[in-house]
Amino acid sequence: MSVRLEEDFERFKRGLSPDFADHVREAYRIDLRASYLGMPLPHPIGKGSGQLSLNAGQLEEDAAGGLAFVVLKTVIAEDEGGAQSMAAWAIHETRMKVERLAAPDGRMGWTVTWKGRGWDRSLDEYLALVRAGREIMARTGMPIVPSVKYHLPRIGEPFREHEYRHTTERLAAAWGDPPVPIEIDFSPTLAGDALSDDRAQVLRWLREVPGYVRSAAPGAVRLAVKLMNARFDDAFQREMLETTAGADALVVFNRLFDGERGVAFGGWELSDRNLRVLEAGRRSVALVGTGNVCSGRVLLEYALRGCESVQLHTFFQLPLSEYPAVQGSRTQRALHSLVFDPREGLIAGMLALERAGRLARHGGELRFLDLVPDAH
Ligand SMILES: Cc1cc2nc3c(=O)[nH]c(=O)nc-3n(C[C@H](O)[C@H](O)[C@H](O)COP(=O)(O)O)c2cc1C
Repeated sequence: MSVRLEEDFERFKRGLSPDFADHVREAYRIDLRASYLGMPLPHPIGKGSGQLSLNAGQLEEDAAGGLAFVVLKTVIAEDEGGAQSMAAWAIHETRMKVERLAAPDGRMGWTVTWKGRGWDRSLDEYLALVRAGREIMARTGMPIVPSVKYHLPRIGEPFREHEYRHTTERLAAAWGDPPVPIEIDFSPTLAGDALSDDRAQVLRWLREVPGYVRSAAPGAVRLAVKLMNARFDDAFQREMLETTAGADALVVFNRLFDGERGVAFGGWELSDRNLRVLEAGRRSVALVGTGNVCSGRVLLEYALRGCESVQLHTFFQLPLSEYPAVQGSRTQRALHSLVFDPREGLIAGMLALERAGRLARHGGELRFLDLVPDAH
C-alpha cells in the first residue's frame, strides 16, 4: 500500500482526477464518503465561505477540481426595503495577504490577513450567484450552499423579523426545490465587536436565531450554524456548542480574533483551540470542522472529534510553491496534498489508524465515517 501511495502521490502531481475518491476506493479499499448538512459527499473536503466563493468561475473550477462542496460568501440579510441592520458587515475590501504565522508554541502555520467582512454587492447579485450555483450543482453534483449573517439584537431588543423573512424567502425562491441549505455565520469580526462582550447576549442569539430563520420558511430550510470563536475561555466555547438550538449541523469554529490588530487569524492556535473544545464537547448534532485543516492528519483529528466533513479557506490560498503538485488549480493541488501525501495525507493517516487498531475494515473496506463518533 505504501509503495502504491508513493507512486500515486508522484503521478498525481501532474494532475488529479476529479473522481479521485473512486480511485481511492478501488486501489486502497478506502471509502472516503462523508456528509455535510445531510447531503452525501464523495469525500470530506469542502470550501468554507469567503473570498474564494464569490463568483461562478470559482465554483466551476472547484467542481472541475473534485471538491466535495462549497459554501458561498456570507451575504448580509436585508428587509423588503433593502435596510440592513448589520450593514457594518457589508463593506468593500479586496486586499488579502497570505502570511506565515507562528502559534504560541512556535509551530509555523499560515493565515490570511484581511480587513473585509461580508458580501459587498446587492442581494439580487447574490441571488444570481445562488442560481448559477444551483445550475453547477445540478450538472456536477457538487453541493453549493449560501451563507447569511442575520440581524443580531442587543439583549432586550427584538429580532428584526422582516430581515429574517425577506432574505430567507428570497434565498429559498432562488434555490428552488426545498429544502434550501443555509449556513448562518457568526463571524470572528462579530466576536471582536462590542456586541459580543455580553455572554448572555451571545447565548440568546444561539438559542433564537435558527428559530427565526426556520419560521421564515417553514419546513423548507436545512440549517448549519457556523459558530465564532468568542473572546472568552474554552468553557464558554463549550457552552455555545450546547446552547445552540434548532440547527441541523454546527460548523466549528470560525477564526480567532486579534483585538490589538483588529483582524481575524488562523494557523495552529486556531486548530489547537477548536480540537481542545471539541474533545470535551457534545455530539448530539452533526459537526463540520473548520480551522487550519492543512493536512489529512489534521482533518482526521477533526473527524475523531465528531466532524463529518471539513471546510477550508487558507489552505486553498497558499503560494503555489507550497504545494507538492506542479500542475492544476489550487483546489486540485490542495486536494492532492491533503489526500495523497505519503506521510501527512488522509490515506496514510487512515492506514496508520488501522495499524494502530483504531479503525477496522468492514467488508474489506476502511470507511471515513466509521472514524466519526455518532456519525449522523
Ligand atoms: C479572507 C477570508 C474571508 C472569510 N470570509 C468568511 C465569510 O464571509 N463567512 C464565513 O462564514 N467565513 C468566512 N471565513 C472563514 C473561513 O470560511 C474558514 O472557516 C476559516 O478561515 C477557517 O478555516 P481556514 O483555517 O482553513 O482558513 C473567511 C476566511 C478568510 C481567510
